[in-house]
Amino acid sequence: MLKKVAFPFVSECTARLTIGLAAACAVLTLTASLASAQTADQAWLKYRGVSGRWRVPLQVEALGKSPIETSAAAELRHGITQFSNASLLWRGSALYAKTVVGTLDEVRRAFPNLPIPRTLPPEGYWLYWSGTTGDMNGSESSHRLIVAGADDRGILYGVFAVLREIAAGPTPFEMHTSAPAMPIRWVDHWDNADGSIERGYAGRSLFFEGGKVRDDLAPVAEYGRLLASVGINGCNVNNVNGSSPFLASDMLHGIARVADAMRPWGVRIAISVDIASPQKIGGLPTYDPLDPAVQAWWNTKVDEIYALIPDFAGFTVKADSEGQPGPASYGRTPADAANTLAAALAPHHGVVLYRAFVYNHHLDWTDPKADRARAAYDIFHPLGGKFAPNVIVQTKEGPIDFQVREPVSPLFGGLTQTSQALEVQITQEYLGQQRHLVYLAPLWKEVLDFDLRVDGTRSPVQQVLSRKNGGMVGVSGVGRDAWLSSPLALANLYAFGRLAWDPTLAPEKIAEEWTRQTVSTDTAVVQKVEKMLMQSWPAYEDYTGPLGLQTLTDITGSHYGPGIEGSENNGWGQWHRADHLGVGMDRSVATGTGYAGQYQPDVATIYENAATTPDNLLLFFHHVPYTYRLHDGKTVIQYLYDSHYAGAAQAAQIVRDWQSLQGRIDPALYNNVLPRLEYQAGHAIVWRDAIVQYFLKLSGIPDDQGRAGTFPGRLEAEDARLTSYRIIDVKPWEDASRGKAVSCPAAAEESAPRSCFAEWTYSGSAGRYDIAVQYFDLQGGIAKFAMTVNGQPVGPDTSWLADAQLPTARPHGDNSTRHIIPNVVLKSGDTIRIMGTPDTNDPAALDYIEITPAASDSH
Ligand code: GCU
Repeated sequence: MLKKVAFPFVSECTARLTIGLAAACAVLTLTASLASAQTADQAWLKYRGVSGRWRVPLQVEALGKSPIETSAAAELRHGITQFSNASLLWRGSALYAKTVVGTLDEVRRAFPNLPIPRTLPPEGYWLYWSGTTGDMNGSESSHRLIVAGADDRGILYGVFAVLREIAAGPTPFEMHTSAPAMPIRWVDHWDNADGSIERGYAGRSLFFEGGKVRDDLAPVAEYGRLLASVGINGCNVNNVNGSSPFLASDMLHGIARVADAMRPWGVRIAISVDIASPQKIGGLPTYDPLDPAVQAWWNTKVDEIYALIPDFAGFTVKADSEGQPGPASYGRTPADAANTLAAALAPHHGVVLYRAFVYNHHLDWTDPKADRARAAYDIFHPLGGKFAPNVIVQTKEGPIDFQVREPVSPLFGGLTQTSQALEVQITQEYLGQQRHLVYLAPLWKEVLDFDLRVDGTRSPVQQVLSRKNGGMVGVSGVGRDAWLSSPLALANLYAFGRLAWDPTLAPEKIAEEWTRQTVSTDTAVVQKVEKMLMQSWPAYEDYTGPLGLQTLTDITGSHYGPGIEGSENNGWGQWHRADHLGVGMDRSVATGTGYAGQYQPDVATIYENAATTPDNLLLFFHHVPYTYRLHDGKTVIQYLYDSHYAGAAQAAQIVRDWQSLQGRIDPALYNNVLPRLEYQAGHAIVWRDAIVQYFLKLSGIPDDQGRAGTFPGRLEAEDARLTSYRIIDVKPWEDASRGKAVSCPAAAEESAPRSCFAEWTYSGSAGRYDIAVQYFDLQGGIAKFAMTVNGQPVGPDTSWLADAQLPTARPHGDNSTRHIIPNVVLKSGDTIRIMGTPDTNDPAALDYIEITPAASDSH
């Protein structure tokens, strides 16, 4: 009798097994050889925990032989074998039954008597149990799990659905069909040929290095697998900026290798193109899209691409935007440019994703009518109906630029005859750059559900995206460092794919699915992680830019830490117009820029008046006095104070939530995530203090809770007895406590001291305290810090290195960092001393120390 088919696996691999299992052995061997490489298993495709009573036939049979079907079958074998190894529930699983995969036609031919659906939408699948659902034990050879796809990709997505259901669902699924809501489900890479990634926070490019495609594309194949597992079917490989080198013939040969690596996973390749390419690399005197020579150049180039990549997906275009050339140079429109490319691609069934991110970044700040938010609609709405059928207008979710909150772009309701794609960012450019946990599915879901009221009827954004060639595009930021660097940030890549497949899914449900596959199937753990994820975006909004202020960061720099005036007084148009009387930008039709009037009338009416505008967008649409009352009666200024304290407190709570999981989850994951969340909690305080002290000073209105401007337990570095440290002004001032810090002449400077010292005499009551040291961890060196009390180190955490990788090389909110020394026993008269030792260009700058009762005492 064959028993315990899956145990122990190694000996079974060499023994007498069915063809199906032999193939599973091959897949396992392959996976083992990849153990140290970057693999999809390191994300959510772990196939480890099984939360329910599942019995899936271990034998997998593929009815066809196409590359996608073959990889689908191999994945299924691999997955169910892994699961069976992981769970006793699988012992004795059906030996006579089979899991069969094939296209609808193949399945119909093989099993004419099954109730097979007549048709399925493209890329859809049908899952069917013949025999008892999910319990295949027994000897009947008719017991089968059938995975039928409308096409090859449908099989693949069906296979991943089965594996997801096993990992995430406690009970076997019922027979069902599923199909994607929208055909375009792409990730966009902003990867440069040199291997860097614009706005990427996870290491270098998977695709490029040193000006060409990398030799080792194994991680690209794994990426394709990861993307396929959530239904993503396209990948635009290069940055929308500076894209002309990517059309050079050598590069195209390399990109063809990328396409080969992704093809078994149903992911088609696209590239960003520079509209000026006919001139830049084609040597023509012009790039006017209506010039016949230019059109001929594009036709020839596209033919060259398809000869190398027969299933090439198409082009993405950024033009007339942020310095990229475009049709405006010749008085032509985006439709002229898009249609020229579309004509070249159409015979090959390729598409053009033309970005609506077209705006003038030299606006006049002093002009109260100037408004960047208007640009996309002003430019694209008049072109309605003028785009070729294979052009898709790709629009960011809001009218500005991936801010923590913006209204949904009115263009989605203003281009009724053109296919549209929603562009969102998976990489967290303005949203904490993966150093902060910000789960984005709730943000995206709000956008997808937003009712545009086109012609006065219900028209949620997701409905617009489901039109003919519509879809969702996620700016990926995936790189070589653990995909997205932060393990929890991977929930965003997962959620992007799931929502593009099914925008009706609830963010909580996606969070739960992802957590079960990635972290644990233990219900208490799942609930805790789901709660952390769900609370992270609201917390981030609270401690960065609430009430529609947008992310109050340095918009011409890193887009990371607080920098409130960074968005004012320049031509970029991310203004909030805060002055000593009030805050917010008047975008009403009656008195402002008129942006509110770009919405369909039902929506425009709501945004036109402050009284009807939702609080969370108030300052996006209206300039109001600080004393203006929100819907619950609270003043705007008090809300600004309260939300920042609440957000920072929530960030601290997220740390405690994670700590409660210690011992219940993989220690490596626990230890990887904990310092990230602790860092975030510290940086949330930097944000809180910057914005609160800024608006306190500007408005002159005190916090009715008495918190703003008072920092209990805080001892400023500039007030300390200093040895060698020099007092500096931090810019912007609000990024340091009271605007000042101390800096030790950097080691690079001549006659720099080895170390600098700041010393305070403690005058509070005796007890145990946590001491937070707020310092600036600069690029360009690894400074050292050490703390003593009365000349003695007080525990293992009293010396540390400023070795984080944070933006910018000057001290400010991007790199202001908190180190906590817990449980320090203090009595009045004790001397607390910080020693800062600079290194190269890092001057061991210090902002303050803060002494608070030991957290461990409050438990
Ligand atoms: C943002 C981002 C840029 C990017 C641009 C775009 O402005 O900061 O790095 O190039 O968006 O979407 O094109």
